[in-house]
Parts: sequence; structure tokens; C-alpha cells
Amino acid sequence: MSENRYAAIVSLLLLGCVISSALPTLGGTEECWTSPLYSLERPRVFLTLSPLAKSMAGGNIQQRQIELNWHGNRAASEPGDWIGLYEHDPINNPTLPLRQITVATGRNNGYYKTDVQFGFPTVDRQLFAEDSCLGYWIGYIRNGVTISSNCIKLRPTWMWQNREMLGSVPLYQLFLPGTHNSGSYRPYNGHSSDTVFMRYLICQDEDIFHSLAYGIRYLDVRVGYYPEREDKFWLNHNYARVNPLRFLIEDLKNFLEVTREIVILDFHRFPVGFSQNTQRNRETHAQLVQLLLDKLGDFMVPSSFGPMTSMNDLWAINRTLIIVYADDWTRSSHPFLWPSIPQEWGDKRNVDDLYKYLSSIDHKPYDHDYFWAAMAELTPSTMDVLFRPNDGLRKLADNVARNVTTWYRDLWWKTTSIAAVDFFHSTDIIDVAIDASLKRVRCSRAASTTLSSVPTIQQTVAEERSTATDRRRFYLGPRNLDFVESTSETTHSLDTTISLSPRMTVRRRRPKNTTTIAIEPNLPVITTSTNSN
Ligand SMILES: *[C@@H]1O[C@H](CO)[C@@H](O)[C@H](O)[C@H]1NC(C)=O
Ligand SMILES: *[C@@H]1O[C@H](CO)[C@@H](O)[C@H](O)[C@H]1NC(C)=O
Ligand SMILES: *[C@@H]1O[C@H](CO)[C@@H](O)[C@H](O)[C@H]1NC(C)=O
Repeated sequence: MSENRYAAIVSLLLLGCVISSALPTLGGTEECWTSPLYSLERPRVFLTLSPLAKSMAGGNIQQRQIELNWHGNRAASEPGDWIGLYEHDPINNPTLPLRQITVATGRNNGYYKTDVQFGFPTVDRQLFAEDSCLGYWIGYIRNGVTISSNCIKLRPTWMWQNREMLGSVPLYQLFLPGTHNSGSYRPYNGHSSDTVFMRYLICQDEDIFHSLAYGIRYLDVRVGYYPEREDKFWLNHNYARVNPLRFLIEDLKNFLEVTREIVILDFHRFPVGFSQNTQRNRETHAQLVQLLLDKLGDFMVPSSFGPMTSMNDLWAINRTLIIVYADDWTRSSHPFLWPSIPQEWGDKRNVDDLYKYLSSIDHKPYDHDYFWAAMAELTPSTMDVLFRPNDGLRKLADNVARNVTTWYRDLWWKTTSIAAVDFFHSTDIIDVAIDASLKRVRCSRAASTTLSSVPTIQQTVAEERSTATDRRRFYLGPRNLDFVESTSETTHSLDTTISLSPRMTVRRRRPKNTTTIAIEPNLPVITTSTNSN
């Protein structure tokens, strides 16, 4: 190849073809892009938390049950394989599992819901040095040896920790894990949570601070304005206010002060109190923006930085909060507000339809030059609310959780910019997004090393295991307000309205030691065995 052509290709690569999967002519890279996200020759394990919650006889509450998950990649399970839930890292010591599950032979993946409840561990922001495990581990055991392990972990500084790999990549080319309706959070409280209204209102069970500490970096919020209240701005789910905006502001500040993580806060809709009257509307927006500037202004990134901005750019100016604002007029007069992020929201009620919708998006050519967000959650219909009053968003999240993990891990890890989910602990989306971002960079670097004939760097996939300490302490869940009033319109307003059509933008409490293990009847992949001695 001539020197000129070589130089041209290298500069193209340097210019940002970081993620394009279309690099077929560059030997070696195609293999990188077509290989699975986790190319382990042995099974990988991870823990999730069930979004389902209920009140038990005697007034106990069951929520956040720990789920065991494994996938084998190309390595199917062998006779005698088993999986354990542990209170220590089993990697060097697979004895004394809290629960033990036999894996059916010849399978490639599996899931099992335990009776062990995770609770709400306390997170101390002063301890944000590295990833840390929160009390529970999972191990995959073959012939008495733990061949892979993992834990439920905090990932408060994953961006900064991976700065060498990710620091110079345009932000929109990373895979960022997000939450849908991030402000609509509340732990399950027993009877007060057992109304139809609440079941179809609450989308998350972690507050903003904890969501960020676990690794979420994209927040999708809707704000309502209530001039007669002491807290005028609220985080809404459509017409219902759920938490004061003040909580989000405090949580963000607490997080941003002690990390260098980049957070995208998307003011996606303004469903209440932003009147049609243009002048009043503008005044209300101006008031909200002023509040944001007063409280978070020091962190806000000017929109002039644009979509090609990388983490390094933002670290250089010591500003790490990108605020996206859906009101065009307001945005046009505020240099710190970023254009809307297109949300690919399918409004789908079942897993198959959501799959079709999301895959049609993914199959579009990779022509994005800005963030875009796949809204990977099911949406209830009015009929659901009326005829399935006992289901709710927790049930819908449970219906789709395993699929969402699989889709993003096995199919769409290359192209997704942001994926926003409900009850994020029910999926493995955070680890998948981080590992996908790292692999994208690795694959594109493999391209450049191939070009310059440097021997290929051995890509050893790191064990999904944190070396960090166990910091098991607990808090009582997100701050609890007495629940706010509902309005009669709510049943009809649950996500039946949405403003923009897609792509139209401007572009622990310790678990009770119950000895019986609940068996999930529909999930035959992992069969139960007796507890270990
Ligand atoms: C970075 O910004 C934060 C928040 O404004 C401030 O507290 C801190 O001192 C700044 N650091 C530097 C090195 O300027
Ligand atoms: C969703 O997951 C279930 C259980 O693993 C599987 O049978 C089904 O095919 C998946 N659906 C889609 C659309 O991926
Ligand atoms: C907890 O359960 C295990 C069996 O799963 C049993 O051996 C142990 O004695 C129980 N501990 C308590 C405190 O009940």
C-alpha cells in the first residue's frame, strides 16, 4: 500500500471511525467485530435483582430477590456443573454457598430466582475509589473448581477508571447505560405500593444517587410545575408527580462532586404546569433553567462542545454534566442546554413486538452523529391498567429483563448509543454497556495495529469480577415521601401520550433464612438440587 493511502487510512481512523463496524477490508478487525462481546471459552455468570415485589403474610415484604444468571458462549454446561450464590468471592473457595443450583447438562444459558433478598445497601460517596462488591457473589463450579465468578457491584467511577481506553472517544460513540423515567423511583413499601396506580407509576427502585453509583449515566426525566407548592418543580410520570426535583439536584451534586463521571440528564418532557400560553410557558422554563444553573451550573457543559466531545475534553474543563432540554425555544437562549436526544420508543406491550421494533432500529445503517436512546422497556396500555391491575410495571420489567440483557449483549452491543431500561437491576445492562464500549475501542485499535503491522495485542477478556472489598452496609431505600395525590386522569395518561415521534429531533437488610427455595416453574434451564452441606 502506498504511503499516502496508508496515511489517509490512519488519519481516517484517528478522525473517529472508532465504531464503524464496516471495516471489512482491514484484516483482523472483522473478526473482532463479529466475535461475541464476551469471548470466554467458559461460562460467564452474573447476578440480577427481580423487579417483582409483594406483601407476604405477616406483613413482610418480598422484593429485590437475587437472581442467578449464566451464559456459556460456545461452552455448554457439562454434567455436574453447578452454580452457587455466596457471601464471599468463591473464586478460590467454592465452599459454603448460600444457595446451590445444579445446571442442566448441555445448556448454553440459564436463570434462577432465589429467595434471598438483596435489600438496599448504603453507599458512602467518600468510598468511591473503585468498583466494590455489595455482599453477594455468584460462582460457576465445575469439578470442584470455580471457573467464573461475579458479584453485585457498584461502578461509581467506571468512566474514569477506563480513561485510557475511553477518554478520547466521542461520547456518543460509547454505549451508555440509562434508566427510563429515572425520577419515577420508589422502593416497594407494602400496602401503600399495592394500588393499581402505584403499580403502573413506579419505574425504578433506586434513587438518582444510587443509580449513578451502580453505573447508570443517562437519566430520562419529566418535570412538572406546581406553583402553589413549596417544591415547585417535581419529577413526574406523566400527570403524577413522584419526587421533588430537589432530590435529583442534590443527588447529582453529591455524585458529581466526588467523581469525574460524565452524566447526561435529559429533560425529556414537561407534562404538567408548563402552560400553552407562550409567555407563561417561557417564564416557567426560565425559572427551571435558572434553578439548574444556580444549583448545577458549575458542572454543566456548554452545548457548543457538540457531539464529538470526549471525556478528555470535559475533564479538561472540569465540567461533567450534560443537560439535554426538550424545549427548543428555551434551549436556543441558553448556551448550557443540549439538543434533544432522539428516543427510540416503540410503545410496545410484549417482548416480541419490542424486539421487532428495537431490531428495526438497530438495522438502520450506522449513520448517527449524535446520541440516541433505545427505550428498552414495555409500555402498558389502558387495557393493561384496567384488566391486569395486579401486573404493573414491575411485571412488565420482569417479562422483558432477560431478553434485554441478551439482545444488547449478543446482538446490539456494537451500535447502541444509550439504552434506557426500567428497574435496571433486573438486567445486566450496566456491565454490558461498559464492556461493549471497551470492546468497540479494542476492535478499532485492532484495526490500527493491523495496519501498522504491529503484532496484535493479546485481548484477554478480564474476569467479570471485582477485586474490591465488601462494603456491606444498608440504607432503607430511596427517600420516602408520603405518596402524593393522584389525579383522575392518571389511569388514562400512563404513557399514552408522547410528544415527539422517533428521530424527529433537531435532530440488604439481611435476608430471612428461609430454607425452601422458590422454583420458577417456567424456567427449566437450571434445575434445583439439594443445598450443599
Ligand atoms: C472542579 O469543579 C468542581 C465543581 O465546581 C470544584 O469543586 C473543583 O474545585 C474543580 N476542580 C478544579 C481542579 O478546578
Ligand atoms: C425472550 O426470552 C425467552 C426466554 O429466554 C425466549 O424464549 C424468547 O425467544 C426471547 N424472545 C425474543 C424476542 O428474543
Ligand atoms: C440457614 O439455613 C441453612 C440451610 O440453608 C441452615 O443450615 C442454617 O442452620 C440456617 N441458619 C439459621 C440461623 O437459621
